[in-house]
Amino acid sequence: MNVLECINGRRSVRKFAAKAVPPEVIDELISLGTKAATGSGNQPWGFVVITDLQEMKRISDEAKSHWLANMEKYPYMQQYKNWLKDDSFNIFYNAPCLLIIYGNTESHWYVYDSTLAAGNIMLASREYGLGTCWVGFAEHICDSDLFKSKYNIPAKYKLVCPLIIGYPETELPPPKRKPALIFTATS
Ligand SMILES: Cc1cc2nc3c(=O)[nH]c(=O)nc-3n(C[C@H](O)[C@H](O)[C@H](O)COP(=O)(O)O)c2cc1C
Repeated sequence: MNVLECINGRRSVRKFAAKAVPPEVIDELISLGTKAATGSGNQPWGFVVITDLQEMKRISDEAKSHWLANMEKYPYMQQYKNWLKDDSFNIFYNAPCLLIIYGNTESHWYVYDSTLAAGNIMLASREYGLGTCWVGFAEHICDSDLFKSKYNIPAKYKLVCPLIIGYPETELPPPKRKPALIFTATS
């Protein structure tokens, strides 16, 4: 797949085949993530890989409870209240792999760099027939002290991107976008 096809066809995938992603493919995707541009050459990223479906379900349940218990702090989450209350809703859509990208806050550029790494991984996944979806719903849970301590993530690392990866159940149509806003100088 060439790069333009890859970019033009990428979609967020939320339905996955019950098939594991080979560990060597995950390793290769992480390596491709680290080829992203990086401010001052700092390479501030760090990764966690979770493939235990029960653990992902546990994290999903915790995330849902957290959002619902703190809804007043997050008005933008109101629109998702019914999903979060739904016992059958898994924020990771039963994907076989959760790859979480953290950034080292000692680098001023950690959010940009880690996001670029995520972009690389999202696009490179397509070459392996894999689909991805950034799951912002996991942002608080996977950045909590408890979670970081369980996965030995130093406190100076902050969560940037929880990304699910798996084999899509169906091919999705290409993305539709609004026309790009292009600002120009007054003459
Ligand atoms: C920062 C960020 C957070 C997101 N969080 C979620 C999420 O929690 N759950 C979800 O299903 N999709 C999530 N998405 C995916 C977006 O909904 C998706 O990218 C958008 O609707 C455009 O669709 P497309 O990626 O298929 O082109 C997130 C995307 C980004 C960039």
